[in-house]
Amino acid sequence: MASVEELCLSKLTIDAVEILVEKGITSIPEKFIRPPEERFTSPTPSEDVEEQVPVIDLEGLNCCEGSIEREKVLKQLAYACENWGFFQIVNHGIPESLMEAMMNVGKAFFALSVEEKQAYAALPGLIMQGYGSKYIAREGATRDWRDYIYLLLQPHSIRDYDYWPSDPSDFREVVHNYSEEALKLAKRLMGAFSLNLGLPQNYLETFIVQPYQNMLINYYPPCPEPELTAGFYAHSDIGMATLLLQETGSKALQIRKIDKWVPVVAASGALLVNIADQVEIISNGRYKSIEHRVVADKDKPRISIPVFCDAAPHAIIKPAPELLESRMNDEAAKVEEMKENPNYSTIVFKNHEIAFYTDGANSKKYVQSYMVQA
Ligand code: OGA
Ligand code: NI
Repeated sequence: MASVEELCLSKLTIDAVEILVEKGITSIPEKFIRPPEERFTSPTPSEDVEEQVPVIDLEGLNCCEGSIEREKVLKQLAYACENWGFFQIVNHGIPESLMEAMMNVGKAFFALSVEEKQAYAALPGLIMQGYGSKYIAREGATRDWRDYIYLLLQPHSIRDYDYWPSDPSDFREVVHNYSEEALKLAKRLMGAFSLNLGLPQNYLETFIVQPYQNMLINYYPPCPEPELTAGFYAHSDIGMATLLLQETGSKALQIRKIDKWVPVVAASGALLVNIADQVEIISNGRYKSIEHRVVADKDKPRISIPVFCDAAPHAIIKPAPELLESRMNDEAAKVEEMKENPNYSTIVFKNHEIAFYTDGANSKKYVQSYMVQA
């Protein structure tokens, strides 16, 4: 165990990628270089509408139950969840001014000097709040070309305000307000997913005991050799769903669509939503948590702000029994016998989280390891 002195010392030495960039390096250190088979060949955004992540207007979700408008949105969401696992949403209820303020406080924090940011440095260890850069704990894991600040937000009792920057001065207020709005939105989406899966509206929310929420502000500095590394290597998100705020027009995020990587072009005023591992398991694989990755860029820095809607740490995650039972009663499902069985074993959310942060480099291997062999 590290001594207090060691902890104090290490608190001051986040190995930020930004420091390398400030030094003006022209080639990247070994620890960021991926083996050739893990490097990104850069796809150009497809013009084909069929190849674009759906953009869904959520306005109709406010209409009364059974209304045509609401049913239409639910159908669009069901299609996106079943066929993409990713979609953008507009008219989602988070005011554009708050999204802008959130992006601005993220930018203002990363505009501080590295020394100023070190005041919020995360302590060494797994899943620690604060400013950091080394995400995956395994020694020797290839590093991503990325720095971040990680904050636990909901329930309020998990917040540690020591790690909430006081500069810019509105950081705390904006993050608090954004967190509250994102929680409301995540609950509405959980409600829609539940209904679309044939479950009561509050099913997913109750199943995970209590929604937990955390936020990353990712900072991707410009990279002198982007083709050799990754902004964020391929992974699937571990919680229930993620709401990602990014700048309009950004194309850095790519998602896996069968055997291709498809870039997402950020739409104006939109948030990008993705299904994460817990929903894949609870839905018994009807909705898939899709792998995604971020390319590093030679010239421009990029900020992205995902809010993760997770399960309570002690939540037991398994395929929804109701779903299995209702399929058993379904004559059509009886024919396809495999679908009546749980496709995933039971896990505790916290263990999944620890596994990911210990050795997350190999993206979906944990979810695959929970799959019940036929
Ligand atoms: C993540 C993530 C994507 C991005 O933080 O889990 O996938 O665009 N981020 O930064
Ligand atoms: Ni992700």
